[in-house]
Amino acid sequence: MQPGFNDLLDATIAHLEALRSSGARQVLVSSQVLAELSASTGRKAPTPTPSVPAPAAVRPASASPIAPTAPRPPSAPAALPASVTARWNTATQAPAPRTPPAPASVPAPIITRPPKLDPIALAAALENLRQRTVACVKCPNLVSSRKNVVFGVGDPQARLMFVGEAPGADEDAQGEPFVGLAGELLTKIITAMGLSRSQVYIANILKCRPDTPGQPYGNRKPTPEEMTTCLPWLQEQIGLIQPQVMVALGVTAVEGLLGKTDGITRLRGKWQNYQGIPLMPTYHPAYLLRTQLTTDKRKVWEDMMSVMERLQMPISEKQRGYFVAK
Ligand code: URA
Repeated sequence: MQPGFNDLLDATIAHLEALRSSGARQVLVSSQVLAELSASTGRKAPTPTPSVPAPAAVRPASASPIAPTAPRPPSAPAALPASVTARWNTATQAPAPRTPPAPASVPAPIITRPPKLDPIALAAALENLRQRTVACVKCPNLVSSRKNVVFGVGDPQARLMFVGEAPGADEDAQGEPFVGLAGELLTKIITAMGLSRSQVYIANILKCRPDTPGQPYGNRKPTPEEMTTCLPWLQEQIGLIQPQVMVALGVTAVEGLLGKTDGITRLRGKWQNYQGIPLMPTYHPAYLLRTQLTTDKRKVWEDMMSVMERLQMPISEKQRGYFVAK
C-alpha cells in the first residue's frame, strides 16, 4: 500500500460524507479511478453496476472523480454504507493499523480535503446531521435516561473546535455543551483567547449524558462501547465543520479522537493530528476546577497560546503573562 493511502482514504470518506450530508445519494466513479484505488489496496476493482453508470453516460467528465448525482430529500437521511462506517469507527478503537510514518527524507503526504461546503449548504447539512443525531436510539440506557441529546454549539464556519467528554447534568437539561461549572471555565478560557463561544464550535465525544443508575447526581466516564457507538456523529460533524485547529479537552476526548491511551499528562501541549487537522490535547476544565492549581492553569493557557499561534491570532503581552507567578 502506498504511503499516505490511509490519509487519502480518510479524505475521500470525509468528502463522501459531506456529499451525503448535502443530499447526494450516489457518486460517479470512473472505472479508471476504481482500478487505481483497487491497485493501491491490492484488491480487484469492483465491476460497475447499473446504479453507478459510466461517467460519460450521465455527465461530461468532471474535474473531480467523485461527483454527486441525484439529491435526496433532507427528511430521509441515508445510513452510511457499512464499509464507510467501519472505516470511520477505526479512529475510535484501539490502535488502528495505520501506514507507518514515512522516513524523514520522504515528504509528508498531502491530505486532500473536500472543499468546505458553502454556508447555506453547510447549515443544511449540519441541521440534517443534528436531526439524525437527536433521533439516535443506539444506546438504550442513555436513551431512557437522557433529557436532551447534546449535539454541539457554535459557528459552523469556526476555525477552532473544542471537543469535550460528554454532557453533564446541566448540559443534559439545557441541550447545550459546556454550560455548567466546567463550561463557565471553558467560556472564560475562550474569552481570554480573545474569542467568544459563538466564534468557535463546541461538541463532545458522547452526545448523551452517561447515565448513573441509582444515583441522583454525579458523572461517569463514557464506556468504550458508548464512545464507539457515538463517535460517528462527531466524526461527521468535524468532517462538515472542518476546523483549522481542534482542542481535545481531557483524556476521553483524546482517546475518542486519536485512539491514544497515553494519558493526558503526557500528551497535553504536544500537537497531534486528527485526520489532517492539528489537534492540541489539554486538561479538561473540570480537572482545573478540581485541582485549582495555578501551574495547571498555566499549562492549559500555554496550550491555548500554541493554538492561537497556529491560528495566527495576535497574542498581547498581557495575555502572555496570564498565570505566571509574579
Ligand atoms: N464536560 C464535558 O466534557 N462536556 C460538557 O459538555 C460538559 C462538561
